[in-house]
Amino acid sequence: MARKFYLTTPIYYVNDVPHIGHAYTTVLADVIARFHRMLGKDVFLLTGTDEHGQSVERAAQAKGLKPMELANQVVERFRGLWRTLGISHNDFIRTTEERHRRGVERLYQKILAKGDIYKDAYKGWYCTSCESFYPENQIVDGRCPDQGHKVDWTEEESYFFRLSKYQEPLLKHFADHREFVFPESRRNEVVSFVQSGLKDLSISRSSLTWGIPLPGDPKHVFYVWFDALSNYITALGYGSDRKNYARYWPADMHLVGKDIIRFHAVYWPAFLLSADEPLPRRVVAHGWWLRDALKISKSRGGTVDPVPLIEAFGVDPVRYFLLREMVFGQDANYSDEAFIDRVNTDLANDLGNLTSRALKMIEDYCGGKVPKTDPRFRGDEPLKKAAQDAVAGFVKDFEELDFSSGLARVWGFVGLLNRFIVQNEPWKLAQDPGRRWALGSVLYTVAEGLRIVAVLVAPVMPQSASGLWKRLGLSGDVTTASLAHIHWGELKPGRPIARGESLFPRIDKAEYLKDARAGKEARTDAAEATTGAPAPGPDAPPAPEAAAPVGAAGTAEIAIDEFGRVDLRTARIVAAERVQGADKLLKLTVDIGTGTRTIVAGIAARYAPESLVGKTIVVVANLRPAKLRGVVSQGMLLAASDASGQPYILTTEEPVPPGWKVK
Ligand code: MSP
Repeated sequence: MARKFYLTTPIYYVNDVPHIGHAYTTVLADVIARFHRMLGKDVFLLTGTDEHGQSVERAAQAKGLKPMELANQVVERFRGLWRTLGISHNDFIRTTEERHRRGVERLYQKILAKGDIYKDAYKGWYCTSCESFYPENQIVDGRCPDQGHKVDWTEEESYFFRLSKYQEPLLKHFADHREFVFPESRRNEVVSFVQSGLKDLSISRSSLTWGIPLPGDPKHVFYVWFDALSNYITALGYGSDRKNYARYWPADMHLVGKDIIRFHAVYWPAFLLSADEPLPRRVVAHGWWLRDALKISKSRGGTVDPVPLIEAFGVDPVRYFLLREMVFGQDANYSDEAFIDRVNTDLANDLGNLTSRALKMIEDYCGGKVPKTDPRFRGDEPLKKAAQDAVAGFVKDFEELDFSSGLARVWGFVGLLNRFIVQNEPWKLAQDPGRRWALGSVLYTVAEGLRIVAVLVAPVMPQSASGLWKRLGLSGDVTTASLAHIHWGELKPGRPIARGESLFPRIDKAEYLKDARAGKEARTDAAEATTGAPAPGPDAPPAPEAAAPVGAAGTAEIAIDEFGRVDLRTARIVAAERVQGADKLLKLTVDIGTGTRTIVAGIAARYAPESLVGKTIVVVANLRPAKLRGVVSQGMLLAASDASGQPYILTTEEPVPPGWKVK
């Protein structure tokens, strides 16, 4: 019997519609699922929606809807996007379903029976955006330590899970199963979190009604993470369908974003240990998609809607870009330019042109049928070997979750096929009756190489792989081909090819970017004031009203918490240069303690770039990025200015390291 492979995505909150970050997790899971199916495994891919909790309740209130009404609307957006993106999930679970409630209750009963639940009072901070409790010492300026969201003080009766009891068993599990958390950097993070001491976890809320009621005390609903994490077993029929549960549990891989690793690698295994259920084999965390150095999310940073991209360029270019551009585990930056360049270079130029050229020559010189090879032809030997290496390398990379490198290997092979055509000049062979025997061999080699490429790209670009398959005159479904049995020479001569339209049309970059640019530049050019401050964005706080109290310098007073919203940090200038075409601007590279950033400042009239390197300055670290003369400025430096507007930059009296808070 085929080996099973149970893979899950996080279940998505229905407080807002999906963006490209959610699309990434789900596409990635789909690629992994398709890859394992093509290795012959019995794959089960689960996704779904996380519909309870305070953030969903608040989002519904803000829209004047009941939480269930909001959930019913938003779940369709997720389902629709997954359909469009070709996600091949085997099940989609909603935490408001009856089957889920039953499973959650069952898990709770087992934990209760173990003696791991007690009632107490919870007093502390709660972050609704992260749906997470934080102790006092982790709160920074009224915000949560993980993502900087505003936290609320909470005091309520709660049921607690004895998480502290599982500190040592968890550490033992991490030591015995080094592969449990991946990548290594996340593993270290999780191990040190557990080593630093686990406190018991509040697993019920009594100030909230939007959740699953606790059996035995319906004044309480389950804490949303207890509810949500259980989906991984409730969807298999935990507590009701013993056979299906036994077939797929434990999960082979929980795929999550790095922001939710703690819930999956600490709380979830602790619940399972308590309930005497097997632990998942791996929790695998990917990085974040950023835009202008900020996480893409609805509450911070710009958001990227995948739908217009798919409408303009198709599903497969989006899937390819997501997998190729992000090195697994690390963060990656999204930009329209990077997307278009990647699609034009790899898809339109390299693979698309190769396919059109090869098929056109088969049409013109071989009557539109796959040609025969001649045994005298030896020029294909290096390519046969390269194909074998590409397949082996690709499979190994994908098994090790190194998708970007696996795809780079395939494109290395595509490059060899392109060079093979140039070196062998089939158009000349076609004119020379004495060498026509070699022509068929050359074109067969390219077509066979393309067949192998179609199989390799099928998990990532199933539609395009099928398109390429059909163009090569092949029957059957490439998405169910075996990756374990790819042999050179399986393409049968004599079958008619079907050239068709080009596989990946080129994107007109200038045309696509024109409108977006025009809008942005108009907004930011107006902001070239002395400090190079970006113009306020559309949702910047409104200007103080005239009637507001007036402070010492003649401006309206602000409350201390309004000042607290400005994240001032010390920073060290590591490089400085002029901005072309802008007399007043310097482009600074500054170290802000957690990494380097680019800041554009209007100080060129008083400071030579080289005089600034090494200086410690003060920057606004949480200013919305903006483009100044084509350079994205990710913050603003502080400077005093005299009556004529000459800037005098602020520095510290004594040397201090970068990243210190200024207040
Ligand atoms: N509901 C919880 C998960 C419960 S799982 C038992 C949740 N939902 S979420 O909708 O906020 O986010 C789900 C996942 O979306 C994140 O963990 C992450 O995988 C993905 N992403 C959200 N924003 C992202 C980026 N900007 N970049 C990459 N992935 C991101 O957390």
